[in-house]
Amino acid sequence: MKFSRIKISIVAFTLLLVASLFSGCAERNPTDTNEDARLTGNSKILVAYFTWSGHLKTISHWIADETGADYIRVLAKDPYPLTYNETVDRAKVEKDKGIRPAINVDFSAHDYSQYETIFVGFPVWWYDLPMPMWTFLENMKLEGKTVIPFFSHEGTSDGSAAVPTVVKLSKGANVKAGDALSIRGSKTAKSEEEVRAWVKKLGFGKK
Ligand SMILES: Cc1cc2nc3c(=O)[nH]c(=O)nc-3n(C[C@H](O)[C@H](O)[C@H](O)COP(=O)(O)O)c2cc1C
Repeated sequence: MKFSRIKISIVAFTLLLVASLFSGCAERNPTDTNEDARLTGNSKILVAYFTWSGHLKTISHWIADETGADYIRVLAKDPYPLTYNETVDRAKVEKDKGIRPAINVDFSAHDYSQYETIFVGFPVWWYDLPMPMWTFLENMKLEGKTVIPFFSHEGTSDGSAAVPTVVKLSKGANVKAGDALSIRGSKTAKSEEEVRAWVKKLGFGKK
């Protein structure tokens, strides 16, 4: 009896903690649903990222600037809601049901085989990779490529579940899981130096 009360308290506490961390997060940038891509074909590096509230867009542009890489924003064809709670709810259903949302990336419209290294960026969603990035990784031919994950989160996960998902889905690729970059979402604005230093340390800085 006593034990189960303790167990219930622990579960309730964990749920409260998760709820408060999630709701306090997301420095709610107005949600931006625009396409964002630079596919010149002049680089062997691609930055492919997903974002909802904009942190990954900021980080991805620093990486692209530092490396001279091409980049593409992965968007769900059916846009996510503009409100945080509705987005959290939809993301949960998609994760629980293993839904692969249709995405904007047209794999036949551009030669993605030219990229040797793909930086893969995403916010942690429900401790894991957002489902549109499952669609992306499963459809991108990654055999023989190097994949470098980078992500942001709001404290209830350091990506420890999401990075193994990237490894699992990047068939035949060399995923640099140990080098993955983790940025606290609310600290994004102050992380430019850290992001650029990370890129340089990996040997990709052009400057
Ligand atoms: C649907 C959803 C689920 C989230 N799940 C988690 C989570 O499991 N763990 C966590 O630390 N943060 C979680 N967050 C917070 C985001 O990972 C964090 O705010 C991130 O910086 C957002 O990046 P973005 O601005 O590129 O979308 C979640 C946010 C959303 C919208």
